[in-house]
Amino acid sequence: LAALIAGGLPLTSQGGRFVQTSAPPGVINLGLGQPSPGLLPLAEIGRAAQAQLAGGGDPLVLQYGAVLGDPEFRGSLARWLSDAYGHPVAAEQLMVTAGTSSALSFVSQTFAAPGATVVSEDPTYFLANGVFQSAGLSVRGVPIDEHGLDLVALERLLASGVRPAFVYVIPAYQNPTGACLQPERARELVALADRHDFLIVADEPYVALRYDDSAPFGSMMRHDEGRARVLSLGSFSKLLGPGLRLGWAHAEPKLIERLSLHGTLRSGGCFNPVIANIVHHTIDSGFLTAHVEQLRAVFGARASALTAALREHVPSARFEPPRGGYFCWVGLDESIDSEALLDRATDLRFIPGRRCAVERALASFVRLSFSFYEEHELVEGVRRLARLIS
Ligand SMILES: Cc1ncc(COP(=O)(O)O)c(C=O)c1O
Repeated sequence: LAALIAGGLPLTSQGGRFVQTSAPPGVINLGLGQPSPGLLPLAEIGRAAQAQLAGGGDPLVLQYGAVLGDPEFRGSLARWLSDAYGHPVAAEQLMVTAGTSSALSFVSQTFAAPGATVVSEDPTYFLANGVFQSAGLSVRGVPIDEHGLDLVALERLLASGVRPAFVYVIPAYQNPTGACLQPERARELVALADRHDFLIVADEPYVALRYDDSAPFGSMMRHDEGRARVLSLGSFSKLLGPGLRLGWAHAEPKLIERLSLHGTLRSGGCFNPVIANIVHHTIDSGFLTAHVEQLRAVFGARASALTAALREHVPSARFEPPRGGYFCWVGLDESIDSEALLDRATDLRFIPGRRCAVERALASFVRLSFSFYEEHELVEGVRRLARLIS
């Protein structure tokens, strides 16, 4: 297989007018946190569009949509989420969004005044900070360990006088570390939010993507228990395709109502009613459930291939095998600066740890994504990493 790859077995690539980030032929880009092209269900989206929109469809789907989204779609989504999360979700707790990036901006404008502070896990999703900064917010970091946010460090920051408008967390299979927030810590975080009067914004695109036999991890909302301290954001990007630009906000109705008063919604109606209508069909037909099952099998096998290759080719690497999500967070030898390493790479890309850091020094870490490449390509990517290091 190595000989075949060296001899030019084509690697998964993407480019052209539709994509934000290209993966040029010959380069393995382990920075790409997106599904591989072969996992994007275009034919099914086409069938769903045909079923919903062609002959006999209701033309009012092209009208300005009901502010929170079609109640029937929200009902189907609530049933699907209840199953995927393993705890009840009510339609009244849901609002349709245009995906999490846009929802984070929307939430920032609704729940934080310009100049306010947001506290985020450190390291965190490296593009979230930009969304907060665009909303005029400043970001403080609190370390995350293998059990999630370090609450002792958070309490210290609160005691120092920092008053966050919200605390931004990725509780399930965190980007970049893969860590899951322990239930006891999640409950304690909600209690802290109550005591110090802040909101918890939980970014949860990976909850359904778990690769072990554990019970569903569930949403941060299961720990809210009606206190209206948690606002959870979900997305179809990692499940069906980022180009749909569709997701949901999930919170107590009084928080959802505050979001619904945003000027953008009052002027433009709900987000993406046509796409929601198409995705509705993939839920009701059972396709989404079957597709997520397939993703769990494929991504689980890819995660195993990546970690086996790391053990073999980079034996000094420190990492927790991913139990879900898209990423493996890898500690290299402490003398290595992963940004400098990346500068020298010609046939490999990855996200250097420093890009994910808020306040910590994480220069010797790398974030490797296993969602975009097939198993043999991931193995080859790790070989290239090993060569680069040596
Ligand atoms: C934690 C996290 N939040 C949000 C996003 C982006 O979400 P969306 O595509 O719904 O805007 C990503 C994508 O990598 C992510 O990992």
